[in-house]
Amino acid sequence: MSSSSFSSCASCFLQNQGGGGGRCSRQTRRQSRPSSSSRRRQRSVLFLRACAAQRTSGNDDDDEDDAKKTKQQHQQNEKNKKKNIAVFISGGGSNMRAIHAACETGEIHGQISLVVTSSYTAGGVEWAMDRDVPVLLYPGGEDLAESERISPSELNEFLKNEYKIDVVLLAGYLRLIPPELCRTFENKMLNIHPALLPAFGGRGMHGAKVHEAVVNSGARFTGSTVHFVNENFDEGKIVSQRIIRIDPSWTAEEVARRVLKEEHEVFPEVVAALCDERIEFREADGVGVIIDKMDSNKRY
Ligand code: GRF
Repeated sequence: MSSSSFSSCASCFLQNQGGGGGRCSRQTRRQSRPSSSSRRRQRSVLFLRACAAQRTSGNDDDDEDDAKKTKQQHQQNEKNKKKNIAVFISGGGSNMRAIHAACETGEIHGQISLVVTSSYTAGGVEWAMDRDVPVLLYPGGEDLAESERISPSELNEFLKNEYKIDVVLLAGYLRLIPPELCRTFENKMLNIHPALLPAFGGRGMHGAKVHEAVVNSGARFTGSTVHFVNENFDEGKIVSQRIIRIDPSWTAEEVARRVLKEEHEVFPEVVAALCDERIEFREADGVGVIIDKMDSNKRY
């Protein structure tokens, strides 16, 4: 296979982790990306519709066995099991790394089982691949052929049934989440936003734009917000916020740096609460409230 072509899918990616295992024999498609790391990502990340079908199909006996095994496994693991986390990224993935670190220390009772990226050039892709975390491309860029894209329902099925995902985290993912995914993971999907919502949020408000808008507004406070995800950008119910006082001499870059640092603390804290099932919902409006880990009478 030439280095400028690929024949990969999520299942191939998993098999290949063992060191040269089987590859999907799907016909390849020419790509013209320049760097070798880009090519590596292309080969490993791209998810082909046909490969997804292959993974989810099988004969009836296999299905019965699978069902039995799944039931037993479910019963065995349900109580106090580590939650399977899917992280959606579009950028560097520093929040994903903070989540991973908290899983490693045990602060979060869970593990990153899947990374979903909107682009194979996202910085966090390399990081995930180096740790053998499967990476799924969704929805992919304009250069991705229609036949190679997965649909929202395939994505939904994949997360729910194939990877048994319990919790979905949007950590700098720039695309709108399909409504059916929002329904499947209602109150199980969190986003982190680098400002104090409901201000400075919504479509197009991401990255540097947020911090520039904050600084230009003259606001003296900013921070980060963790909220549940609904069908609109940055509009789900808030679970937690961290506040930073802005010095009027600060640039947008300075604000961004300080907010990101705060994000790396608040996001794992909320994810830990979600995985421990320590989030309650305010009766009147469904706002998420965290039950303190050390004192179950305390809410914040
Ligand atoms: C963070 O600022 C987050 O609030 C926003 O996107 C940025 C992602 O940064 N949604 P990183 O990719 O986690 O470093």
